[in-house]
Amino acid sequence: MNIKNEILQVESLTKVYGKGNNRTMALNSITFHVLEGEFLGIMGASGSGKTTLLNCIATMRKPTSGKVILRGKDISGFCGKDLAGYRGQEIGYLFQEFELLDNLTARENITLPLALHGVTEKKAEPRIQEIASLLDISDVLEKFPAQMSGGQKQRVAAARALISDPDIILADEPTGSLDSKNSKILMDKLSAVNKEQHKTIMMVTHDANAASYCSRILFIQDGQIFHELRRNVQMESTKDFYRRIVTVMAQLGGGSANVL
Ligand SMILES: Nc1ncnc2c1ncn2[C@@H]1O[C@H](COP(=O)(O)OP(=O)(O)OP(=O)(O)O)[C@@H](O)[C@H]1O
Ligand SMILES: [Mg+2]
Repeated sequence: MNIKNEILQVESLTKVYGKGNNRTMALNSITFHVLEGEFLGIMGASGSGKTTLLNCIATMRKPTSGKVILRGKDISGFCGKDLAGYRGQEIGYLFQEFELLDNLTARENITLPLALHGVTEKKAEPRIQEIASLLDISDVLEKFPAQMSGGQKQRVAAARALISDPDIILADEPTGSLDSKNSKILMDKLSAVNKEQHKTIMMVTHDANAASYCSRILFIQDGQIFHELRRNVQMESTKDFYRRIVTVMAQLGGGSANVL
């Protein structure tokens, strides 16, 4: 059996926003571990704490208490150069709304993180070609965002998340602004990134179709894990896993507050 290493440990992570009457506990002592090479899905109702969780892992938010440990290092202790290195090289972030800069071409958007770290485009060229080919955007590299389709823009954003060769990709509803055809294309590509480039992916999604590509799904409610599904990747098709996801969503979906 293939024994995999843990890449990420989230330990008793708590995030409280505001004070007094405005106090919201977005994460309530959540604990879970992620294995290297996993494609982990995070599902849960609106307001259940999914984005807060990704943002704490990405160091864009500071947790109130608890730890995030990446490859054995507690990232909450990072500052200065370590923090910049972590943000720039160890994690890649993919948002729902592409977040491309309108006045830069696809190529310039993709290489922006490298430019910030002083890597020349010439040095990055083989990696740009490799990722562009994997994500099927080779022919839009010289185009501006306004000249691309939504699906192409999101794949360019995915290329930008991958360019620094990060260990882990964090994606927050990456298919949220795409139609079903482009969602499927993006998920096929992310799946290839997971399998062929051996990237660990953690993806928040409301979409059972997108979630069916994952190898494991954590369902979150009120900042805590309340259910977990694992796919037997060898034995279970994405179709069968989709059916199980929908069943859990229906069971847990009860009141409107729980609609996933
Ligand atoms: N900056 C903030 N200040 C105060 N409260 C916040 C802030 N950001 C989020 N919250 C609250 O924390 C809780 C969790 O928010 P979060 O954005 O993590 O939810 P989510 O699961 O990503 O929801 P959605 O599916 O709608 O994106 C919500 O109750 C939200 O109102
Ligand atoms: Mg969110």
